[in-house]
Amino acid sequence: MSDISITKLPETATEPTDTRKVFVKTYGCQMNVYDSQRMADSLAAEGYVTTDTPEDADLVLLNTCHIRERASEKMYSALGRYRKMKEKRVAEGHNMTIGVAGCVAQAEGQEILRRSPSVDLVIGPQTYHRLPNALQQVREGKQVVETEYALEDKFEHLPSPKREQVRKRGVTSFLTVQEGCDKFCTFCVVPYTRGSEVSRSVAQIVAEAEELATAGVRELTLLGQNVNAWHGVGSDGREWGLGELLYRLAEIPGIARLRYTTSHPRDMDEALIAAHRDLSVLMPYLHLPVQSGSDRILKAMNRKHKAEDYFRLIERIRTARPDMALSGDFIVGFPGETDEDFEDTMRLVREVNYAQAYSFKYSPRPGTPGADFKDHVDEAVKDERLQRLQALLSEQQYAFQDSLVGTTTDVLIEKPGRFEGQVVGRSPWLLPVILENNTDQIGDIVKVKIISTGTNSLVAEKLS
Ligand code: SAH
Ligand code: SF4
Ligand code: F3S
Repeated sequence: MSDISITKLPETATEPTDTRKVFVKTYGCQMNVYDSQRMADSLAAEGYVTTDTPEDADLVLLNTCHIRERASEKMYSALGRYRKMKEKRVAEGHNMTIGVAGCVAQAEGQEILRRSPSVDLVIGPQTYHRLPNALQQVREGKQVVETEYALEDKFEHLPSPKREQVRKRGVTSFLTVQEGCDKFCTFCVVPYTRGSEVSRSVAQIVAEAEELATAGVRELTLLGQNVNAWHGVGSDGREWGLGELLYRLAEIPGIARLRYTTSHPRDMDEALIAAHRDLSVLMPYLHLPVQSGSDRILKAMNRKHKAEDYFRLIERIRTARPDMALSGDFIVGFPGETDEDFEDTMRLVREVNYAQAYSFKYSPRPGTPGADFKDHVDEAVKDERLQRLQALLSEQQYAFQDSLVGTTTDVLIEKPGRFEGQVVGRSPWLLPVILENNTDQIGDIVKVKIISTGTNSLVAEKLS
């Protein structure tokens, strides 16, 4: 193993050199997708071009997820494959740098180098602006671990994406407005991997949104591990919450659709609910995870609200925006979850009626309080509960999709479809919509009638 140095790197990047190829593999949530784009943009300024084939890459960068055990294990098995590729490339007289970024990098740091010595660089999400310098250190023959929380704001130092780059990515874009989490749900690694809650400034967010709109972006999805906890001083000198920010972003010419994810029920304030009532550009689709329908389990999870609070909240949201489609996340088999607790979750799902939702078996994560709780639930019981929950959620999803058949709605055209004349767009409820024999342009918003529904998409015809 070569020499390991934990470095505190200087901020200024080195001069760009000749063209190199980078292959970026993204795991996990939308925040990682956004981060991967920002890292690719920062590497582009250093002369790197992205490639879809790792075999010919000078740099393989894995942007990893730590949320469940399976997610981290995926990274280690991928590293095994990239190690072989690296050996082959080195034998052919080239080099390949392997970098691990994201939440596993932050959580495991040094340990990654111990388990996978072919890795050259480990870099946590708070220090991506130091990536060019870290790579310079690697070129000098060091293994680098950069997981200290940076004191400076990485967004101030990351280069903005070039317009042609944004255009290539399409008419929808993510924009991270908030990072980290202070909620410490007892099952969750995010507060440890992403650090404490930080909001980007209004000025930074508006400038980035305007830049994206100028490059042709029509739909913005604001991101944050706790996006609705975002707050900042607005142009009127008052403290704004996410609701006020959305009113401001809705004024940007070209932005036709706004979304945000992921929200915590405790941070859905009046202004945000009012924004759903007032802003037609704010799409009627809300991902609002509740995790469990049992008050006992919600308490053990440290969610700090009861099932009844969630019902009341949904009611207020649906009063403000009657066509709101709801999505959520659920964990089954949290330590101590009895059959009765699980039935409470099933009852909650029946009462709320979701358009779509994600559900997971509880995965104990080292370092989180839940991992040390007693009464871990049997895998077989978790499997059975997950199956029942997923069957109910699928039933609701298909019922929601069926209810749209025959209705008219708007579709934002995003890309060409698989066949000649076909385009694929998105409904306000995030569901992909396929349009046949269409001549509209990418980025157009067209009125359509939904004529049928597939597994995860709708088929529509344009209204003239
Ligand atoms: N910030 C978001 C969720 C982030 S993690 C929120 O508060 O809702 C995304 C989802 O992964 C969570 O909503 C949860 O359902 C699931 N999850 C997180 N930790 C998990 C664990 N240890 N086991 C199983 N699922 C987990
Ligand atoms: Fe994790 Fe809870 Fe924070 Fe969401 S709110 S990121 S589930 S700790
Ligand atoms: Fe995974 Fe980190 Fe996102 S743990 S879900 S990539 S915040």
